[in-house]
Amino acid sequence: MSRISERIRYVGVNDLKKVLFEGMWPLPFGVSYNSYLVMDEKVALIDTVEAEFADEYMDNIRKELGDRKIDYLVINHMEPDHSSLISLIRKSWPDVRLVANAKTVPMIKGYHGIDTNIHVVKEGESLSLGKTDLTFYMAPMVHWPETMVTWLAEENTLFSGDAFGTFGAVDGNITDYSSRLYGNSDSSDDAFADFRDEMRRYYSNIVGKYGQTVQAALKKLSALEIKRICSTHGPVWEKHIPEVVAYYDKLSRYEAEKGVCIAYASMYGNTSRAAHALAAELEKRGVKYAMHNLCTGNVSYAYRDLFQYETLVVGAPTYNNDIFPPAYNFMYGVGARLVKNRKFAAFGSYTWAGASVKLLNEMAQKFGFELISEGMSFAQAYSPEKCDMAALADKIAAEQNKGC
Ligand code: FEO
Repeated sequence: MSRISERIRYVGVNDLKKVLFEGMWPLPFGVSYNSYLVMDEKVALIDTVEAEFADEYMDNIRKELGDRKIDYLVINHMEPDHSSLISLIRKSWPDVRLVANAKTVPMIKGYHGIDTNIHVVKEGESLSLGKTDLTFYMAPMVHWPETMVTWLAEENTLFSGDAFGTFGAVDGNITDYSSRLYGNSDSSDDAFADFRDEMRRYYSNIVGKYGQTVQAALKKLSALEIKRICSTHGPVWEKHIPEVVAYYDKLSRYEAEKGVCIAYASMYGNTSRAAHALAAELEKRGVKYAMHNLCTGNVSYAYRDLFQYETLVVGAPTYNNDIFPPAYNFMYGVGARLVKNRKFAAFGSYTWAGASVKLLNEMAQKFGFELISEGMSFAQAYSPEKCDMAALADKIAAEQNKGC
């Protein structure tokens, strides 16, 4: 699993223990923290891994390194899932020179107290390892302001940081000719198909806000003839590069397919009944949908499907003359991700004064979404007469058939 090529070795780890990535996002299939050695006359280590995997990580490095030493530690990204072990690397190889850009330097000092023996690189600058060079390109806000990527031209290899990464630990080989999503009983022989939903969930949860900067990075990197992508999470992409790059391009342009993401929250079941009625009506009309209960499920999955489908329908009762908080929180996250180009409808119950549907519509309009319904606010118990989901499903189906 470790030898990607004669020069490039995988020394990363699978994390099958963490329950919530960033304290928020579930990891049913785990996650990998990828790190790589580039071995030439000099040896460069690209990024590190989470602190709790120090023993396994050091074993991986020493197995590949033998009696050689690490000359450079390239820091593409300072989020602690990749930078936690900088201090340990410096302690283990005291002469190791850190390679970082100017925005990274204060973060290294802030997290590790290290401010010596740092080689500061600029856009397009190269570092010779002997027969090969590493070249650095800045990729700000993919995912943090200091992020950069590292290009190994001799192997047409891009060390891309979080870009093109995915949730899901890697089973089998690290390269996508034979890697599989860990613990997924539906695993196929197609690594891209296998990881696609987890890639979209990763993108929408973690990087979703940064569509514009991802687009800028994609444009910059399009000049490179990339034959291998070594990201910080998930498989090393070789076989599926066109699909993976096209998918990131699509996600970062907020392009969606026909279908509906229904996200609802319900206190006593009336808004829930309306949501299920809508699902049944969509089903009858052959409209694809995904439904998420925001009270019982992690919002991570609702964001995943928000990035898949062109129509968003949100259900929430009125609570304290406002939007019921689980639905408000979801909508806050939709806005925070700067999601564009969505059609929108809202529904929800109230007991003595309805406010949620009006407020949901206002949020959606602020995001620039197109309202396909004035929304359905109904008093007390749900009934089809008070909340006509057949009519809403007709509208959605008609919208989706436009241009077909
Ligand atoms: Fe995997 Fe932004 O760190």
